[in-house]
Formats: sequence, C-alpha cells, structure tokens
Amino acid sequence: MLPDAHIHLLASGLGHRFHRGRAKALDGVCLTVAKGEMVAVVGRSGCGKSTLLHILAGLLRPDEGRVCIDGAEIVGPSARYNMMFQAPSLFPWMSAAENVGLGLRYAGLDRSAIRERVGELLALVGLAEHGADNVQQLSGGQQQRIALARSLATRPELLLLDEPFSALDPFNRAALQTEVRQIARSLGLTLIIVTHDVDEAIVMADRAIVMAAGPGRIVAEVGIALPPDRDRHHPDFGRVRDDLLGRLNEAGVSSTEPPFSPPARSGWWAGMIGRTA
Ligand SMILES: Nc1ncnc2c1ncn2[C@@H]1O[C@H](COP(=O)(O)OP(=O)(O)OP(=O)(O)O)[C@@H](O)[C@H]1O
Ligand SMILES: [Mg+2]
Repeated sequence: MLPDAHIHLLASGLGHRFHRGRAKALDGVCLTVAKGEMVAVVGRSGCGKSTLLHILAGLLRPDEGRVCIDGAEIVGPSARYNMMFQAPSLFPWMSAAENVGLGLRYAGLDRSAIRERVGELLALVGLAEHGADNVQQLSGGQQQRIALARSLATRPELLLLDEPFSALDPFNRAALQTEVRQIARSLGLTLIIVTHDVDEAIVMADRAIVMAAGPGRIVAEVGIALPPDRDRHHPDFGRVRDDLLGRLNEAGVSSTEPPFSPPARSGWWAGMIGRTA
C-alpha cells in the first residue's frame, strides 16, 4: 500500500454497465497510482481497458465507485488530466503549431505566451522545425508527436494513453515509446497507457495491470523491475516478458491474439485526419 501522500490517482470500486442485461464492462475495479508512476493496462479486446481510461479521464461517469486525483473526485474532463488516442485527431486545416496551441487559446493565454509555450513543446517532441507545416504534410509518427505536444500543452499531471502508437510503423513506434517515457519522467507526469503490445508495456511502464473480461476486472499486476532507462536488450527483459505473458495467459488472453482494429468513428471528430476508419 502506498502512503496517502504519494497517491496521485485512486480508483475505488469502479463498475459500469453500458446495456441492461449484458455483462458489466467493468466491475469492482480498484487502482492506486503514485505520482510520477507509469502504469500499463493490458488485456484481451473488450475487457474494459478503454472504458476504464474514459472513466479515469472524466469522460464517462461510472455507475459505481469513484476516482480521485490528489483526493478530489473526478466529475468531468479537466486540463489536469489529458487523454491521447490511437488516432492523432488533428485539425487538418491548421498548422502543427496551431494544433499544439489550441488548448492554450481556449485557456485564454495571450499570443506571445502561446507562441513561447508552443515553441517549447515542439522542441520537446523533436519537431521544432515543423511548426509552420500543415499537419497533412507530416508523417503518421510526426502527427502523433504533435498530438502528444497538444496533450502536454496545458501542463497536465496525468496523461492517459489509449493505444497511442498502434497505427505507427515499428520504427516510429519504438522511438515514441522511449521518448514518451523520457518526457513523462522529465516532467514528473503520471502516465497510464493501454496497450496490446507486451513489449510496449515493459518499455513504458513501471507496473502492468492485467484485465480480463466478463465482467471487466483487474486480475493481476506485474511489477516491471528494470532500470528506468529501458533497454530491450537488458538481460532481465525476457524474464519480465515471460512473467507478463504468463499472467495474460492465466487471464485467458492469448499472446497471439491479433491486434485490435477499432470500429469506424463518427461524430464531430470524424473529419479530423489520422482517424482510423
Ligand atoms: N459506448 C459504448 N456503448 C456500449 N457498449 C460499449 C461502449 N463502449 C464499450 N462498450 C462495451 O464495453 C465492453 C468493454 O469495451 P472497451 O472498449 O472498454 O474494451 P477494450 O478493452 O478497450 O477493448 P479493445 O482492446 O478492443 O479496445 C465491450 O463489451 C464493449 O462492447
Ligand atoms: Mg479499447
């Protein structure tokens, strides 16, 4: 158990049912995350990972239980916790810099403060030279970096990532996994990432939570005791992978399960680039 002073996020007894008569999407989910800790959520498609993340982000009110950040209950979205999705969902008619600065405009910052902060963020994600580019000119990996910079613009304390790299090629994916972990560490961010990729969980997280379906619940937890700067060639990497795969198998998740293809999206964000249809 963490001492109270170190608890950043506390979820207790979370339960949610989307349809009466169907299994609960979540049941009895309890989770404690320390400040600056990085947690991966893994589990079979449909076991409730995104539902959990939406609740933690204040985008969905659970039927049961509650979530607190620093002791205050989450009752809706906030700039203190930002969510990043599989698709970067950028506005195609805006430049990279305008996309990054969008939240700052809504927060009422003046132009020079926005320009300065956007410059810092573009440098942080390695795209200092691309601020004026239209986002449609950027590669998938660069677009996801812009989405990351936009998520960080309002200086959130908690970043919630729902399979953010699954649409990227292996090279960009590996680079972003390492970079996002480094950025989160340097900013002291708490990070919760949903992934289907066991290696991604090990590269990015300090701890992995294993979920199972019917009802969606947490069935295991695996500590990832590797040096903070993750190296896939570390002699213990394979042991941690075997441990996590073993827990996933116990939870009824096959390691050969094909990656999830999200359903087509509709709604106000459907016109944004980078969406998966
Ligand atoms: N908006 C919704 N309306 C109705 N049912 C939903 C909704 N969102 C999720 N569900 C159901 O809740 C359960 C959990 O879904 P969720 O999207 O959280 O799973 P997941 O673990 O994120 O899956 P995946 O790995 O495929 O993304 C599923 O049975 C799903 O069909
Ligand atoms: Mg999901």
